[in-house]
Amino acid sequence: MTTDKQHIVVTGGAGYIGSLLTAQLLHLGYRVTVIDTLLFGGESLLTFLSNPDFHFSKSDVTDSRCLKNALRRDWPKPFALFHLAGIVGFPACQAIGNQAANFYNVDATKNILEQSKTLGIEKFIFSSTYSVYGMSLNGVSVKEDSPLNPQSLYAETKIKAEEILLPAKAIVFRLATLYGISPRTRFDLIINQFVLDAFTKRELLIYQRGYTRSFVHVRDVIDGLLLALTSLDEKNDQHLYNLGTEDGTFTKDQIVQMVIKRLPDTFVEYKDLTFGGDMRDISVSFEKITHELGFKAKVSVDEGIKEVVNTLRLGLIREPNHIRYRNSQFIVS
Ligand SMILES: NC(=O)c1ccc[n+]([C@@H]2O[C@H](COP(=O)([O-])OP(=O)(O)OC[C@H]3O[C@@H](n4cnc5c(N)ncnc54)[C@H](O)[C@@H]3O)[C@@H](O)[C@H]2O)c1
Repeated sequence: MTTDKQHIVVTGGAGYIGSLLTAQLLHLGYRVTVIDTLLFGGESLLTFLSNPDFHFSKSDVTDSRCLKNALRRDWPKPFALFHLAGIVGFPACQAIGNQAANFYNVDATKNILEQSKTLGIEKFIFSSTYSVYGMSLNGVSVKEDSPLNPQSLYAETKIKAEEILLPAKAIVFRLATLYGISPRTRFDLIINQFVLDAFTKRELLIYQRGYTRSFVHVRDVIDGLLLALTSLDEKNDQHLYNLGTEDGTFTKDQIVQMVIKRLPDTFVEYKDLTFGGDMRDISVSFEKITHELGFKAKVSVDEGIKEVVNTLRLGLIREPNHIRYRNSQFIVS
């Protein structure tokens, strides 16, 4: 087939971030191969099926021939790969246990990196998480070179994956906590979940109301990830960026106030229970991505909350409490 369209691979392309990234890459004129085991179904990919620039391979990133087998022989070699597949979030990692979490998040990353190198793929882009920092010390915002202090198995697996990738010149983004709607929306993320609970149950049960987190809209994350294709070159010495926005730093209580502004009939109960989860109190610096890559988030948390409320009001997601919209039964609140 003769075409000069560039080809990109997205592992985890059926997921929350991956499905929206795939849509945007196709929109921008790339050819996209998605690799995914469809842990949460494949409905998020249905709209792409008739697109001649889309190819799907139901395969597992732990498989040593996964990438080679997934690629179409009549397409040009991919020049970039976004590695998003994995067991995502601390509850899901905790649920599957230490060995399995390391297998899917660390060994699989090494495996896909090695296969990418063999195939000569130029750009390897990875989505890590700001939870690798654990907490901010003395209220100082964490930067890319701040010490790492993981509070969960999930964060530990992300650090191990980064340690494999950074020396190999991969591009690593440490994402803030996402919110907003995508073809595979997740309702186990704080903002989306608070809106869902307020909308469906009219009540919110909030633990650790004063904890600070950093939030970013899923569409802004896509814009940030895409900068890896266009704005990064050899002069950027270390390809490691926090991805989020200074405007996205809020306490849980502030998020609750924004949710009840739109859903005022909500009853809120606060509890201060400590449990063995990922209880990070953190503010993050996004100076590096702003200055080096010119990243600027466009969506505010308030707009994101409005979007989720409207999606639910319109009934666009039929069973938002269904297990397919959360990565683990465990509720993070
Ligand atoms: N959503 C967030 O707030 C957030 C924050 C920081 C980092 N991240 C990272 O971004 C990436 C994507 O996150 P998401 O929220 O879209 O998660 P998601 O769970 O919605 O998507 C992950 C996708 O990977 C697929 N998958 C899982 N194991 C696989 C395997 N072995 N082989 C092939 N496919 C497999 C799943 O079927 C799913 O479609 C993850 O690496 C995650 O750690 C997400």
